[in-house]
Amino acid sequence: MKYLIGIDVGTSGTKSVLFDTQGKEIASCTEEYPLYQPKNGWAEQKPTDWWEAVCKTLKYLTDKATDGEICGIGISGQMHGLVMLDENNEVIRNAIIWCDGRTTEECREIEEIIGHDRLMEITCNPALEGFTAGKIRWVQKNEPENYRRCRHILLPKDYIRFMLTGEYATEVSDASGMQLLDIAGRCWSKEVCDKLGIDMSLLARVYESPEATGCVTKEASVKTGLKEGTVVAGGAGDNAAAAIGAGVCKTGKAFTTIGTSGVVFAHTDKPIFDKNGRIHTFCCAVPGKWHVMGVTQAAGLSLNWFRNTLARDISYKELDAQSVSVKIGSDKLIYLPYLMGERTPILDVNSRGVFFGLSAMHTRAHMARAVMEGVSYSLYSCVELLKDLSIDVSDMVICGGGGKSKLWQKILADVYGIDVKTLVSQECAALGVAILGGVASGVFKTVEEGCDICISERGKTVSDEANHREYMEYYGLYSKLYPALKDSFKELSAL
Ligand code: XUL
Repeated sequence: MKYLIGIDVGTSGTKSVLFDTQGKEIASCTEEYPLYQPKNGWAEQKPTDWWEAVCKTLKYLTDKATDGEICGIGISGQMHGLVMLDENNEVIRNAIIWCDGRTTEECREIEEIIGHDRLMEITCNPALEGFTAGKIRWVQKNEPENYRRCRHILLPKDYIRFMLTGEYATEVSDASGMQLLDIAGRCWSKEVCDKLGIDMSLLARVYESPEATGCVTKEASVKTGLKEGTVVAGGAGDNAAAAIGAGVCKTGKAFTTIGTSGVVFAHTDKPIFDKNGRIHTFCCAVPGKWHVMGVTQAAGLSLNWFRNTLARDISYKELDAQSVSVKIGSDKLIYLPYLMGERTPILDVNSRGVFFGLSAMHTRAHMARAVMEGVSYSLYSCVELLKDLSIDVSDMVICGGGGKSKLWQKILADVYGIDVKTLVSQECAALGVAILGGVASGVFKTVEEGCDICISERGKTVSDEANHREYMEYYGLYSKLYPALKDSFKELSAL
């Protein structure tokens, strides 16, 4: 028996999944860890927590795979996080992660130093708080001693690669989110690094996502149960990875994922970008190709927050069951999902969550449904932006933890006004990087071949025209709320 493993270093936990070489899920294991929010709007995690979770989940899987050979593995994970290592490869400070919003000033400086148009030309994106370059600049300015000690800068999943293989390596899809990559050229930009005072020797070597980047070391083999010498592929940032696991590897295909964040993603053959920078343009995990995506910062995170804060006594399934009977529009209750600020389309770290229209008649079920609807409106605004760029999103797959909810699938299909497909394997990110591991180890010839063999559709949630029209009335009002509150959010943040 031959196996592949995909590891997904997420924000709420790490999930590792064992697949056979036909993409069938054999076993999976998740380990959670905390998110630290030392200030409102800041977000940090401990890289050593990720590594411990990876070791535990891999040990579980390797114990299940004693009857065969694990041919290759791939790593995916939350993008943009800043991991800094000293000369002894010790972690210098907590990782500042993707949803941290402390770098507004640094982003302004980056735009000034490089020039907005030149930055767009090279990195295809404006300076955004979520991206890594601003975080590096924040450490340079606020923690000069930590920066002086820094010898290696890595992304979250690339720290795990280092622990597994001893290699300082990354790959194009995740590196795109650092804002230091020349997106069209698929290599580090010397111009951007020089202008920001970042020594390029701190950065990892850049590979294409399905390339082999190293092999499991003896030390890592003892901790994980993997055989020494097992091939580790470049892998991909979580969204580029989920694209491969959802079969979105050619033009005309798109997917929506509802994980901690929510993303609407479409494959492109060229680096297409929005002049206003409202969507991201990154290299994708298919060599020589790109993708565009819009990001809702708090998608699954919104429902997770709601349940943990106000509905701890019931499961997500029960919450779904109660919300299903609430009417479209949650009886005139609208939720803005800005718990961690927002990216697409408003690009505002100061924005915060809102329940608009609360009445004494509303119950917890109304609020839960409003959360699902509000996140879906936010994702719909990403769909609209992609359509504006003439990108076809009609072939839409849904995945991610939130995407498993039948109710959320139906809300999304009705809000979008298009049918949404589900797949047999819903662990898209893990499957995506397992496929990349399969290419790196010679199991598949190409990423496309791996997708053809491993991915099949499970079903489709049909969109209802009348429901879509009803949702659009709410969406019209939803779209007016942020502009009305913009200044108040700014005032709130300054209090
Ligand atoms: C993408 C992004 C998130 C994180 C966490 O730009 O910030 O999707 O990768 O999942």
